[in-house]
Amino acid sequence: MAFPEGFLWGTATAAHQVEGNNVASDFWVMEHAVNGLFAEPSGDACDHYRLYRQDLALLKELGLTSYRFSIEWARVEPEDGVFSRAAIAHYRDVLEACHEFGITPMVTLHHFTSPAWLMRLGGWEYEGTPERFAAYCRTVMSELGPLIPYVCTINEANIATLTRRMIEDMTGAKPEQAPVGVREPVTGGRAQWREAGAAALGTTPDKLNLFLLTFSDAALAVVKRAHVEARRAIKEVSPSAQVGLTLALQDMQAEPGGEKAAGERWAEMFDEYLPALAGDDFLGVQNYSRVLLDAQGAAFHPEGAELTQMGYEFYPQALENVLRRATSAGLPMLVTENGIATDDDTRRADFIRLALEGVERCLADGLDVRGYYYWSALDNFEWMLGYQPTFGIVAVDRDTFERHPKPSAAWLGEVARRGGL
Ligand code: BGC
Repeated sequence: MAFPEGFLWGTATAAHQVEGNNVASDFWVMEHAVNGLFAEPSGDACDHYRLYRQDLALLKELGLTSYRFSIEWARVEPEDGVFSRAAIAHYRDVLEACHEFGITPMVTLHHFTSPAWLMRLGGWEYEGTPERFAAYCRTVMSELGPLIPYVCTINEANIATLTRRMIEDMTGAKPEQAPVGVREPVTGGRAQWREAGAAALGTTPDKLNLFLLTFSDAALAVVKRAHVEARRAIKEVSPSAQVGLTLALQDMQAEPGGEKAAGERWAEMFDEYLPALAGDDFLGVQNYSRVLLDAQGAAFHPEGAELTQMGYEFYPQALENVLRRATSAGLPMLVTENGIATDDDTRRADFIRLALEGVERCLADGLDVRGYYYWSALDNFEWMLGYQPTFGIVAVDRDTFERHPKPSAAWLGEVARRGGL
């Protein structure tokens, strides 16, 4: 059997998307600013802050062995330099519950949201952000480190690189094909959001540097440095924790004439990050679909392709391709996210099975892949798109927060119990 003993079978979530009432974060403020970018505010989300135990019990019962979730910087440090003992105690409870249920926790320390106060300082373009981030990481890990075997510093450190490219693509050949989540925010359809958001966050539009929507070279450098500084801080206080970064890796496929463009895009999305990864213990690989490049530019899917609720092509084979390319980092790899937004749960199970067949082939060829985390455990707050896209293996009643596992949850749990397909 290709999947090794101890392979981590999990699902992933992020604090802002599931916990609810993340009121000290930049996103919360943006969600409530007029002319907002958001289809709806995050509100109570899945009330996971209260119901985490129940959720962990469910994941355990399904047969899963690991859970990737994020600790929220805005909760732990709601004002600059002010740390919340209560928030840290909460996350200690969550981690202890994981261990109690025999679930290996993987913690992400930054998953898109930041404390609102950081935006007043200049956000992800501010040169002091890496030090601020490292100080928060040090606090968390000196308190909770012994409970955290795996830690991802920053989720999708390269997301702005990808989005920057998509903006260019959308002014090019096939803008209407772009994934739905990207189309409106970046084309400026509601350009006033910047002004309103900046005012609400106590900054100015030119200095509104949210992690997800800051595309300058200066910001990319700040993000990379934040990872390096965080890793240093974590290693000092918690040397046994395995530290990694996660990258959003689209499968860049060249059509005739697109070879050069495909190579360049892989380089800027991946190779550019290699210096920052030197010294990491693993690489988190996150993949959802592919991009096709020809002499004209990028296409997000071939004509007539089956599309997900996100407007991505149903193309689970992409995961195998990116794992093979990402081995060049020379690090053990964990698939920290792979998933599909669909209301057809049968297609979800198909997607996971096809993706895992690819992982199996990679393992058979000797690639060092140590885990697979399906995105997501729960139907949750999909950022600008609100609650419409459904990625979860578990549905959540938006009024009662009742959990309803879908057939794909039982199926994935079976795979985990069997230790393979
Ligand atoms: C992010 C998640 C998001 C998922 C689906 C990833 O880029 O890490 O937060 O929900 O994709 O769009």
